[in-house]
Amino acid sequence: MLLLNQVKKTKIIVALDYPTMSSAMKLVHMLDPSIFYLKIGKAMFTRFGVQLIRDLHKLKFKIFLDLKFHDIPNTVFYSVKAAADLGIWMLSIHILGGVNMLKSAKLALKNFSDTAPILIGVTVLTSLNQNDLKAIGIIHSLRKQVFLLSNLAKQCCLDGVVCPGSEALNIKKKFGSDFKIVTPGVRLSKSSIHVHDQNQIITPDLAKKFAIDYIVVGRPITLSNNPILVLNNFYSML
Ligand code: C5P
Repeated sequence: MLLLNQVKKTKIIVALDYPTMSSAMKLVHMLDPSIFYLKIGKAMFTRFGVQLIRDLHKLKFKIFLDLKFHDIPNTVFYSVKAAADLGIWMLSIHILGGVNMLKSAKLALKNFSDTAPILIGVTVLTSLNQNDLKAIGIIHSLRKQVFLLSNLAKQCCLDGVVCPGSEALNIKKKFGSDFKIVTPGVRLSKSSIHVHDQNQIITPDLAKKFAIDYIVVGRPITLSNNPILVLNNFYSML
C-alpha cells in the first residue's frame, strides 16, 4: 500500500483504464483511498458496470464516473440521477450538450444536497489540437473555446470543468477559486515518450502552479511495470 501523509492542494485521480478486473484490482489494493480518487470511464464501466462501482465503494474509494454524458436534456436528467443514486463522488457531462442539457443535469441533483456528485463539464478534450477543432467546425482558438464553454458551465451552476492545464489559471481568475478544475493529459515530463494521444500536456509541478484541483493520470500508471513508483513521482512533484 502506498501511504503518503502530506496533504496536497492538487489531488490525483487515477484513471482506472484497465482491460481486466484483475489488473485493475491489483493496483486498487495498493492505493490508499483517503489520498487517491479513482476514475471509471466508458471502457471499464461498459465491461464491468455498476458492480465495479459498488466493489470500489466497499473499499472506501471516491469515484469519478467519467461517462461524459451528452444527450437530450431528459435523458441526461435521468442518467445524472442514476449516477447520484449510486453514490458517485464526481460526474462528467459534455458542455457542448447545451444550456438546457446542463440545467437538466443540475436539476437532477436538486434533492441530493450534501450527497450530490461534483458536477463537472467537459470543455475541450485534451486529445484535440487547433486543427482538430477546425475540422469539426469550431473556428475559435482553443483558449477561447475553453473559456466560452467554462462560462456556460458556470452560468448553469456546474461545480467546475475538465480542461487543458494551460487554461486553468485563466478560468480560476475569471470564475473564482471554488470553481473546480480537473485536468487530464498530465505527464512527468513534456518530452515524455508516453504522451500517447494527448495533445495538451502538462507536468505535475505546473498543475500545482496553475492551482489545478485534480489531475487525472491514466496510462503513465496503468502501463507501467512499477505503477506505485510512478504514482509516487507524480505525488512528490505536486
Ligand atoms: O492515459 P491518460 O493519462 O492520457 O488518461 C487520461 C484519462 O482522462 C482518460 O481516461 C481519458 O478518458 C480522460 N479524459 C481525457 N480528456 C478529457 C477528459 C477525460 O483524457 N478532456
